[in-house]
Amino acid sequence: MTNIAIVTGGGGGLGREIALGLAGAGHGVVVADVDEAAASQTSEQIRGYGVPALSVPADLSDPAAAEHVVAVARDLGGPHILVNNAGGWTSSWASTLTLNLTSPMLLTRLCLDPMRALGGGAVVNIASSAAVGAEPYAAPDYGAAKAGLIRFTTAMGAEPGVRVVCVVPDWIGLPRAHDEWSRLSPAEQAATRPLIPPGDIVAVVLDLIASGKPGTVVEMWGGGTT
Ligand SMILES: NC(=O)c1ccc[n+]([C@@H]2O[C@H](COP(=O)([O-])OP(=O)(O)OC[C@H]3O[C@@H](n4cnc5c(N)ncnc54)[C@H](O)[C@@H]3O)[C@@H](O)[C@H]2O)c1
Repeated sequence: MTNIAIVTGGGGGLGREIALGLAGAGHGVVVADVDEAAASQTSEQIRGYGVPALSVPADLSDPAAAEHVVAVARDLGGPHILVNNAGGWTSSWASTLTLNLTSPMLLTRLCLDPMRALGGGAVVNIASSAAVGAEPYAAPDYGAAKAGLIRFTTAMGAEPGVRVVCVVPDWIGLPRAHDEWSRLSPAEQAATRPLIPPGDIVAVVLDLIASGKPGTVVEMWGGGTT
């Protein structure tokens, strides 16, 4: 039977790369994204791999939407995998905490019983380098939420039957980032670490899903991984 993965924010950016990577590895994917058109584009691409794919329009800040996404994955025979990828800066501290911390925690909780009933599962949380270090950061709510996500991962390290792991990337080489990079001054570019190729992150996510120990946190910096 095909394993079914939920990828939040799978309509674009890193989430789309992860969704396609999972499809390439033979997993079916539920693409959950607030952008309906983008989610359905990703699921069309996934079907090209010959695996099941469904797009679910969902604002994952809404607990009812999170429940609906998990219900869709159950109808498909999953979820075996959850990738909590949707995240980012928002216009208020409260909504940033909801999107980057509360929603991934809720989705994880909603997946625990179904994953155990299927014989076990994996949850991959996508945090950010904004969560680590002690220097000032322009979006403290985002940094704090992602730091919470890392600690949530390690705190879930003894959860029976479900391996919760986390990837902590620095600046990712998505098309938008290459544009922003090209607008930096030479001095700013020299002071910035290289962008991380999205494929490198997908590879780490797939490895963690296959064999990551519960509570594993992988920091990824341009030019190296710790
Ligand atoms: N881009 C980077 O350099 C970078 C670096 C470190 C960590 N991250 C983290 O990686 C993840 C992906 O980043 P990205 O740059 O690809 O993101 P992005 O801003 O490109 O968004 C990806 C997708 O998430 C969807 N989305 C946004 N809010 C949503 C919501 N409330 N409900 C459902 N879907 C929603 C968007 O529609 C979009 O399709 C995020 O968690 C981000 O914090 C990104």
